[in-house]
Amino acid sequence: MKQYRVIVAGATGMVGRKMVQVLEERKFPASELLPMASARSAGSSVTFAGKSWKVQELNEENIKNSKADVALFSAGGSVSKQFAPICAKYGILVIDNSSAWRMEPNIPLVVPEVNREKIFSESKIIANPNCSTIQMVVVLKPLHDRYKIKRVIVSTYQSVTGAGQKGFDQLMKEWKKEKVENPKFPYQISFNCLPHIDDFLENGYTKEEIKMVNETKKIMGDDSIQVTSTCVRVPAIGGHSESVNIEFEKPFEVNDVRNILSKAPGVVVQDEPKDKVYPMPIHAYDKDETFVGRIRRDETVKNGLNLWIVSDNIRKGAATNAVQIAEEWIKGK
Ligand SMILES: NC(=O)c1ccc[n+]([C@@H]2O[C@H](COP(=O)([O-])OP(=O)(O)OC[C@H]3O[C@@H](n4cnc5c(N)ncnc54)[C@H](OP(=O)(O)O)[C@@H]3O)[C@@H](O)[C@H]2O)c1
Repeated sequence: MKQYRVIVAGATGMVGRKMVQVLEERKFPASELLPMASARSAGSSVTFAGKSWKVQELNEENIKNSKADVALFSAGGSVSKQFAPICAKYGILVIDNSSAWRMEPNIPLVVPEVNREKIFSESKIIANPNCSTIQMVVVLKPLHDRYKIKRVIVSTYQSVTGAGQKGFDQLMKEWKKEKVENPKFPYQISFNCLPHIDDFLENGYTKEEIKMVNETKKIMGDDSIQVTSTCVRVPAIGGHSESVNIEFEKPFEVNDVRNILSKAPGVVVQDEPKDKVYPMPIHAYDKDETFVGRIRRDETVKNGLNLWIVSDNIRKGAATNAVQIAEEWIKGK
């Protein structure tokens, strides 16, 4: 079997560490791991496949010398803007976790369960969608195929881990009543909810909310789907949760929806309310699947459905989705 040389850019961060773990768990055929990060972490090491791999500074020289086949990026938008094109120049396929490239028309935005075919475009950069969007579209896609979605209203309950290591550390410090230097969130997050993720725009929405709107249309390949979103940071750590209200064009039976979702790739139905079975971040933690429950009709609108969707944002929302794209790329068309 062909072996690949794999850069992980941002290998010391929350998503990057998980990428290395997921590559190992899924036995990705990597002969060489090339962990890269900022100059701050250069010289530290990362363990992969029973060996220790030295972290290098992410710069053009190291990219060129890497002779890598594929690079998984999770080092933030500005780093991706600068270095993804450099990787592409040296023939390295980039799978980028930041928002830097997602809405560029010629850059594919991929969730393999939804639009795997987009991996095989001419582009040397493939964008990994926003974590909240990924878990929603794996559930929406099979329902859209069957009943055609007109409108989606989503409210998120997003884990502190979505804000990286600093977000997680802030919650831990607050719980331990330790002083928080340079807080990641604008307010205390323990015992609190912040209706504020990423920057506010002129129209009153946040960038995170608009990402969910635009990315959903692009991944589903259907601009006619109306999406409106409210994104909220909550003091949870296992994953993001979403309350999703869908209005379909066609009528449906709730049991058929349950059946469709139970057969959908990457989706697990957890929906036994009488036995208190429903998705929760503590159960989704460190799992690759997207969990859906509380499946019920919205009686206030024609063809309306309510769902509760939970997934580990660091896994399916980031690392796992990126590694799956790399796996599918290897398999080819
Ligand atoms: N957390 C999530 O749920 C999630 C989900 C989807 C996508 N993402 C995206 O993934 C990216 C990383 O998120 P994260 O949560 O892993 O953040 P994080 O824990 O803060 O990690 C950031 C990583 O980027 C590296 N880095 C920072 N500046 C750099 C530079 N100038 N050059 C090279 N490397 C640099 C850091 O290296 P040092 O250790 O050297 O500082 C670290 O490895 C972001 O773009 C984020 O939007 C995150």
